[in-house]
Amino acid sequence: MMHRPFIIAGPCSAESPEQLADTARALKGLGVDFFRAGVWKPRTHPGDFEGYGVDALAWLAHIQHTMQLPVATEVATPKHVEAVLKAGLKGVWIGARTTVNPFAVQELAAALSGTAVKILVKNPVNPDTALWVGALERFQKAGLDDLAAVHRGFSVYGPGGYRNAPIWLIPSELKRRMPHIPLLCDPSHIGGDRLLVGGLAQKAMDLDFDGLMIEVHPHPERALSDAQQQLSVAEFKTLMGGLTVRLPDTSDDLLKGRIEGLRGQIDLVDDQMTELLAQRMRVVEEIGALKREGGLTILQRRRWEELIARIKERGMTLGLSPDFLERIFGLIHQEAIDYQQEFTPAYLSEQKICTLPRMGSMNELSGLLQGKRAVLLVDKNVETLYKRQLPDFPVITIEAKEALKSIETVLSIVQQLIDLHIDRGSWIVGIGGGIVCDLAGLAASVYLRGLSFGLAPTTLLAQADAAIGGKNGVNVAGLKNMLGCIKQPDWILCDTALLKTLPKREISNGLAEVIKHALIGDPPLLDYLEQHAQAIMALETDPLRHILYASHRFKSSVVNRDEKEQGWRRILNFGHTTGHALEAVYAGYAHGEAVAVGMLYAVTLSIKYTGFGAELLPRLKALYSVFGLPTELPCSLEALHAALGSDKKREGKTIHMVLLEAAGKPCLQKIPFWP
Ligand SMILES: NC(=O)c1ccc[n+]([C@@H]2O[C@H](COP(=O)([O-])OP(=O)(O)OC[C@H]3O[C@@H](n4cnc5c(N)ncnc54)[C@H](O)[C@@H]3O)[C@@H](O)[C@H]2O)c1
Repeated sequence: MMHRPFIIAGPCSAESPEQLADTARALKGLGVDFFRAGVWKPRTHPGDFEGYGVDALAWLAHIQHTMQLPVATEVATPKHVEAVLKAGLKGVWIGARTTVNPFAVQELAAALSGTAVKILVKNPVNPDTALWVGALERFQKAGLDDLAAVHRGFSVYGPGGYRNAPIWLIPSELKRRMPHIPLLCDPSHIGGDRLLVGGLAQKAMDLDFDGLMIEVHPHPERALSDAQQQLSVAEFKTLMGGLTVRLPDTSDDLLKGRIEGLRGQIDLVDDQMTELLAQRMRVVEEIGALKREGGLTILQRRRWEELIARIKERGMTLGLSPDFLERIFGLIHQEAIDYQQEFTPAYLSEQKICTLPRMGSMNELSGLLQGKRAVLLVDKNVETLYKRQLPDFPVITIEAKEALKSIETVLSIVQQLIDLHIDRGSWIVGIGGGIVCDLAGLAASVYLRGLSFGLAPTTLLAQADAAIGGKNGVNVAGLKNMLGCIKQPDWILCDTALLKTLPKREISNGLAEVIKHALIGDPPLLDYLEQHAQAIMALETDPLRHILYASHRFKSSVVNRDEKEQGWRRILNFGHTTGHALEAVYAGYAHGEAVAVGMLYAVTLSIKYTGFGAELLPRLKALYSVFGLPTELPCSLEALHAALGSDKKREGKTIHMVLLEAAGKPCLQKIPFWP
């Protein structure tokens, strides 16, 4: 059994005999149990400092011998083990990138078998408790007993402020499964920043960890690797002096320490349950939207009966009382019903104006148009790709070019409608991106003073934004949307499968509009985008549908409140004033890219003029880089200001802009538009 807290400390890398001697001498005086330094450094990029190898092993052996301080280093291959054993070091650790590979761990276990070396097994890079447990078991099976687990955090995408996400529930689960294996925490790798190390170390102690593994360097600023996260000796001394450790001096304290540790675990589980409940409510929202679309009742008794029967059955196998589960899930279920009921009036109120899209497949178009006369206005590229999925109606092909979003094209469409003898009882269906939706909506609004029309948007931008809200416009003399009308389509059908053929850049464009909705009206959507960025970029159906539902919900609520854009609807211009100016001065940008940079500019102005917090800016830039959106102005600020100067929202040296007071709280503000 280790004494608590067991401390391993030393520099990230062995850099010279002097550096090691200086650090070891200082640390020995501070009661450190093991000295650590890496001699083989697994680095992401070739060319980064990879350690001094066997030469440095000799330096470490010297430290161990002369200072009577046991020393450990990282091993990743049986050859490393052989060299470490030859040097006589008393400990090794297995790095996170090795633990992740059971073959490599097995080879190391075989190479170490029969020795008395202390083995520290860091968690695998990805958050997988079973893989970590499996690695420890491989060493146990090889007869190696002097083991400890080291929690160094996990590589997961998303913000969180740490180099590696701590996900405390995983080490806590490891401790539950392997209570006899001492558990250490490596706050240096979790934090990635020396300022975070102290707080993380204390948290680990509060959660009943058995010890700490901390990187200490005599001159961190000069360190050859991970300089940011290494403490100076003085900082390490301060940290150790300030650490509150519930030491088990008496049996009472031991008990108290354990209870505190378990309470910490309960807190973690409670946090996770709360997050899961929030996640469940998001799904409830989506189901609510679908039920409204389909005209289904909110409470569906059979579904509830099946759900509770399944939960009780599963709960019993886990030792939970059916009564308890029925009460808990009864409350959760009731909350979901209350939520849907409360939510319904806002959505389905008498003044419902905006047509809410439905999710489905292009194949459903035939059903929607059954028994009707119709003409399809189809994007040329979409027609080529999906010809066989189109229902059997006459087709007018549209070339999706911004320059062709014009009154001339509308006239050409009208002429073709006349030629096809399309009458007042016929339907017009627009199938394509925002350009086709705009043209179809306008043609359907003016031809014979208006026909019924439906839209099947085929780009992410159109599915998330352009098809919703009833604005139908064309450009005149290069000026955007100068001529148009507002008329809601009778239905909108979104098939996310069509997005698979969309160029990546068009996906990015669409995501810019989704981010806009998140920023001005739905802050949890921003968290969702961050957490599911990879899945969204991989065009997985569920996350795509999730962000589309959220966009539809938000945009329709704005349109319902102010269809004719007399006030509130202007918030949808967030990022667009600057975006349009950028499009004018920088031809290389697509609309979504210009809006993305426009939003960054609007956030920057918000920080200056509304007191909006600065934290969002780096988050936004990180998200943009995953989504393939630009993160910097493509032109000089002067050029941008010159272009902004010709905006119609300008008044002398001021301009009206949509800014943010807080996430989800937009405001219209008059600001000076040059510094
Ligand atoms: N009416 C509104 O409220 C509103 C809102 C936002 C944007 N808009 C307008 O939308 C237009 C931009 O729309 P967009 O970004 O959808 O561009 P788009 O219509 O030009 O389509 C982009 C490209 O994708 C191709 N394409 C479409 N679907 C495809 C698919 N499934 N697979 C492969 N390729 C496909 C098109 O042929 C085109 O080349 C602009 O004119 C903008 O003014 C209107």
